[in-house]
Amino acid sequence: MEVELLVPQYGTIISGFSESCAARLHDMPSSDTKALPSTTPESQSEEVKPKCKACCACPETKQVRDACIMENGEADCQALIEAHKQSSSSSPRVLSEEELLQLARHDSRPVTDFKRRQLRNESGNWDKFYQRNADRFFKDRHWTTREFAELSTEAPLKLLEVGCGVGNLFLPLLEENPSVYVYACDFAPTAISIIQADPNYRKHSDRCQCFVADITKDDLTSNIPETLDIVTLIFVLSAIHPEKMVAAVRNLRKVLRPGGLVLFRDYGLYDHAMIRFAPGHKLDEKFYFRQDCTYTYYFSLEDVQRIFTEAGFALEECDYVHKETSNQKLNLHVPRIFVQGKFRNPA
Ligand SMILES: C[S@@+](CC[C@H](N)C(=O)[O-])C[C@H]1O[C@@H](n2cnc3c(N)ncnc32)[C@H](O)[C@@H]1O
Repeated sequence: MEVELLVPQYGTIISGFSESCAARLHDMPSSDTKALPSTTPESQSEEVKPKCKACCACPETKQVRDACIMENGEADCQALIEAHKQSSSSSPRVLSEEELLQLARHDSRPVTDFKRRQLRNESGNWDKFYQRNADRFFKDRHWTTREFAELSTEAPLKLLEVGCGVGNLFLPLLEENPSVYVYACDFAPTAISIIQADPNYRKHSDRCQCFVADITKDDLTSNIPETLDIVTLIFVLSAIHPEKMVAAVRNLRKVLRPGGLVLFRDYGLYDHAMIRFAPGHKLDEKFYFRQDCTYTYYFSLEDVQRIFTEAGFALEECDYVHKETSNQKLNLHVPRIFVQGKFRNPA
């Protein structure tokens, strides 16, 4: 049976989805999306899980995948194969046919070895980013205490902000929470110099210190002579090559006290920014590079859970977060998907 849904992330009506796909759309954990009624009683419940077996779920992605394999062979249809796998498990959302085709186009132009070598200068590429943009690119992150209650405690709190950039997360936090002490590091020296010259950093110099460090290889204990309550890892893991992600996360355990938490947020699978990549930017499944040569990875829940588990952490919670970016003038609504989680360093 087919159903019609008003999908908040699209701001539009999408019809022709099977019930199991439609249920999955409503199954998305979200603090931001308005839950809109669907035409099936099952899908009104946030608890609804698809009852269908993976093999018969989401015939839309299956059809496009099968047609591609028949025409081009399996090797040239990896994006569609992956899209169907995702839609058959815990997919963040079901993709439209146009989006599936966009994803398939990502594979149409391979990345040259020369380009891949250029991308390996990760800290250099981020440093150039900050030389160009200084503190004009990222907005201050005022949502952190709302999303992570642990950050607004009145008890003394010591934390490390990893990949702090120019301080958009920790400088507002120092203002908001007088009982927090912050260590902050980034592997881009220009970002750290910009923070050190910032009047807000100087104002709180008795409660913070920042330093240059690459979390994939540097010993953080040489700058942090104590163990901490919390590490924040916000939009940073996606910038690290997938082969180094587990090592980076494992490294954080050395500065976390037993029972301490990593607060995590990053780009989610099928985020709008992933779908709209032009051909020639895809390095591997879910792994891309931007125009400015910085890496970006789009995580499934399974990816994040696997990385933290392999690094020795225990899962507290991990969910997709759905947002909608709107441009009222252009009447444009863009679905953003993030993964947000908390992981505990075992006692
Ligand atoms: C998208 S920015 C996020 C900045 C900041 N966390 C925020 O939320 O505003 C990613 C940051 O991670 C830093 N970064 C990437 N890989 C890193 C690594 N291996 N070690 C330390 N910092 C890293 C980059 O230099 C960049 O400043």
